[in-house]
Amino acid sequence: MLGNFTYCNPTKLYFGEDSLINLNEELPKYGKNVVLVYGGGSIKKNGIYDKVTRILKNCGKDVAEISGVMPNPTLAKLYEGTDIARKHKADLILAVGGGSVCDYSKAVAVSVNCSDDPWEKYFIRFEEPDCKIIPVGCVLTMVGTGSEMNAGSVITNEKTKQKIGHVFASEEVMPRFTVLDPRYTMTLTEYQMVSGIYDIFNHICEQYFSGNDDNTSDYIAEGLMRSLIHSSRIAVNDPQDYEARSNIMWTATWALNTLIAKGKSTDWTVHMLGQAVGGYTNATHGMTLAAVSLAYYRYIMPYGLDKFVRFAENVWNVSSEGKSKEHIAEDGLAEMEKWMQEIGVVMNISEFGVTESDLEKLAELTLPMEGGYKPLNRDEVIKIFNESLRIYQVNY
Ligand code: NZQ
Ligand code: ZN
Repeated sequence: MLGNFTYCNPTKLYFGEDSLINLNEELPKYGKNVVLVYGGGSIKKNGIYDKVTRILKNCGKDVAEISGVMPNPTLAKLYEGTDIARKHKADLILAVGGGSVCDYSKAVAVSVNCSDDPWEKYFIRFEEPDCKIIPVGCVLTMVGTGSEMNAGSVITNEKTKQKIGHVFASEEVMPRFTVLDPRYTMTLTEYQMVSGIYDIFNHICEQYFSGNDDNTSDYIAEGLMRSLIHSSRIAVNDPQDYEARSNIMWTATWALNTLIAKGKSTDWTVHMLGQAVGGYTNATHGMTLAAVSLAYYRYIMPYGLDKFVRFAENVWNVSSEGKSKEHIAEDGLAEMEKWMQEIGVVMNISEFGVTESDLEKLAELTLPMEGGYKPLNRDEVIKIFNESLRIYQVNY
């Protein structure tokens, strides 16, 4: 581990079937006023809403609600929710939903007592909160983002089409506790489940494809990827397989709670490309990443060849016998492509309605990143989006 670092993750996790019961232990630690945040209604259909509100009532909480938090939560919604939480004098924000609801709750938590405009302060200037942050707790219902155990929050400015994430430095932004019941994810559509699986995979790739040092984090990353590939195949065949779904849930949490980024550089270019597409088209997060990944990784492969060889051998069991490094690395990406097609992710950005005439604007919306093997200039960003317009084909 050549890099120096501090590691502290204060989120307490309650994992497993019926772990919601632990809300009874957590809720008394906070004041009476709770703001319950949720999305477009899935928790009402699958019964989670009733279970949560019953516990809130039994714990004597005075509850206000912010409902209708959309996937890719917007700035207008942030202003609306901040107002509700402020008026309710929130002591705790309880997020019940996926990454969008968790991210949104964190954004509200840092905005309630903020005298500045939260978009300008947190998402344009990337400043840290200098006000009291409302504690956030989560009950996770959609797996992928890792938002349940990190300080990230992604908000979309629907007017400018900018989708920007801020990973706050302050540990106080991280959820104080999170309930992870794999059963709660069983009502997800296959599209959302698969999108989440690819999001997890890409979070690991973003932290793996960088640096040439010998780092424990990379070995953990390989283990997480192998587990995810294995469980994803089972889950796609049988979405009700508890063991596979619980492994995927746990992998998601560890893929993006900062552990595997420790002591090394990280990339995040695929996320910047995907977020540009997401801000522009409002497409599903994990699918936007899948649609740009192969074009990007094939482009940077020569610049990080040894890591791509290692990826092929250690993650995809590619045989190296009689092959050049380039050949091994290409075979690894071909295996990854086969797996992506097998689980059914979106393979090109045309599927979101993007055409060649949108590429300049997409490039403008893409934030540059420095940590990967080949930082991209504007022409290269356009080249990768252009490649991503088509179903990316290789000859096996
Ligand atoms: O709104 P409802 O009705 O609840 O429906 C949601 C939503 O339509 C549905 N859903 C969630 N749980 C369900 C369910 N449907 C049936 N049964 C359930 N149990 O799923 C849909 C998608 O939910 P969403 O929360 O948007 O998905 P996800 O968890 O992928 O979150 C995406 C957001 O997180 C951000 C993304 O950019 C995007 O805005 N990210 C956050 C990160 C972080 N905090 O570190 C990192 C990620 O890279 C990502 O950028
Ligand atoms: Zn992601």
